[in-house]
Amino acid sequence: MRLRAADRADGSSLWNLARRSGVDENSPYAYVMWGEYFAETSIVAERDGEAIGFVTGFRVPQAPESLFVWQVAVDEGERGRGLAGSMLDELVGRLPWCRRLEATVTPSNEASASLFRAFGSRRGAPVEEELAFGSELFPGGSHEAEVRFRIGPFEGGARPA
Ligand SMILES: CC(C)(COP(=O)(O)OP(=O)(O)OC[C@H]1O[C@@H](n2cnc3c(N)ncnc32)[C@H](O)[C@@H]1OP(=O)(O)O)[C@@H](O)C(=O)NCCC(=O)NCCS
Repeated sequence: MRLRAADRADGSSLWNLARRSGVDENSPYAYVMWGEYFAETSIVAERDGEAIGFVTGFRVPQAPESLFVWQVAVDEGERGRGLAGSMLDELVGRLPWCRRLEATVTPSNEASASLFRAFGSRRGAPVEEELAFGSELFPGGSHEAEVRFRIGPFEGGARPA
């Protein structure tokens, strides 16, 4: 298994993995674009040439010390072994400017909430949780509310001990 930066050629496998794993499915174009323009802030886990996990993110324009994690996905058979946590650690470890991490999580997604709390605790960093987007913002009540996790500050570019 290896962790590497995303690139444009990953678009179609990331889209497929997103569909299999149950994260919000964006267009294939969105994943191609992510590999092209947001490669520095995204990471792919692959085994035998197959993507088995990914994190897509971007540097927050209004808060340049912050990485916003847009989506995290791990193939079902690979879950519960620390892969998502390792991808976050590796990605943040590559970004010397990154001293804070933000993400939004639906209240029913316990695995995702645990992932971000555990990331904060590995770094001894505070973790704040607050309502970010109420469900009324989404069309036809089709989407749960999203809770924002704000983690940091922590040492930029550092991997946990
Ligand atoms: C969320 C997800 C990425 C986690 O991937 P993973 O590789 O299994 O996560 P890890 O093994 O690194 O575990 C991270 C933490 O979550 C906990 N966890 C994992 N699965 C869990 C579950 N089903 N319920 C509760 N906690 C869980 C782990 O115990 C760990 O916490 P700890 O370090 O305190 O023990 C994966 O479950 C997934 O792809 N889910 C579907 C897509 C999704 O919901 N993505 C997030 C929203 S964009």
